[in-house]
Amino acid sequence: MSAERNRTFAVGVTGASGALYAARTIAALLERGCHLEIVFSDFGRRLLRDELGEAASVERLADFLAGRHGEGIRAGSFVVHSNRDLGAPIASGSHRCGGMVVVPCSMKTLAGIAHGLSRSLVERAADVMLKEKRPLVVVPRETPMSLPQLRNMVLCAEAGATVLPAMPAFYQGPTSLDDLADFMAGKILGALGLDHDLYPAWKG
Ligand SMILES: Cc1cc2nc3c(=O)[nH]c(=O)nc-3n(C[C@H](O)[C@H](O)[C@H](O)COP(=O)(O)O)c2cc1C
Repeated sequence: MSAERNRTFAVGVTGASGALYAARTIAALLERGCHLEIVFSDFGRRLLRDELGEAASVERLADFLAGRHGEGIRAGSFVVHSNRDLGAPIASGSHRCGGMVVVPCSMKTLAGIAHGLSRSLVERAADVMLKEKRPLVVVPRETPMSLPQLRNMVLCAEAGATVLPAMPAFYQGPTSLDDLADFMAGKILGALGLDHDLYPAWKG
């Protein structure tokens, strides 16, 4: 895989709670100079504004992220695709894309990925990652979980995805919600094979 492909990632944002994780992950990837192909589901869009406020609109995403995480995000670039656009570049395995994260990942989209349904661009792009054997990270959030939901996580893991539940840890001494989001974003970057210093490494 070329270095150029490694710097391009798809990001799906779906309608589970946890827009903060999506924003921090997108900002962290942009700070590292990555090019992102971002897709919001309808409920992903809604929860972005519900949980982060009116300023967090998809249309003004760059300004929102710069205001929250600093101008360093402008080191990267991104495009936003419609979740209905199954003809977008990331719908094809021939497109140069080094990996994908779905953060947060709703139980509905998790089910679609687990069963290869490809009903939306998020599901299709995830399916492409699995068939091309490229990194796919899914960040589910729900509690408690039903047996079908647990089984869908197993199916995703068996197909080669990294199932990385939205479960921030507390051993690193977080003092804010941003610390918790940093932890999740760091885990996601690590799973995509990227170095980061988003939370202090455990020193024993
Ligand atoms: C305020 C709100 C919070 C939600 N939180 C979750 C959640 O944490 N996890 C989840 O799986 N679904 C959650 N849902 C339900 C999903 O948004 C719903 O199943 C939706 O159809 C998912 O579609 P999508 O995967 O295309 O975004 C929530 C819905 C709303 C309105």
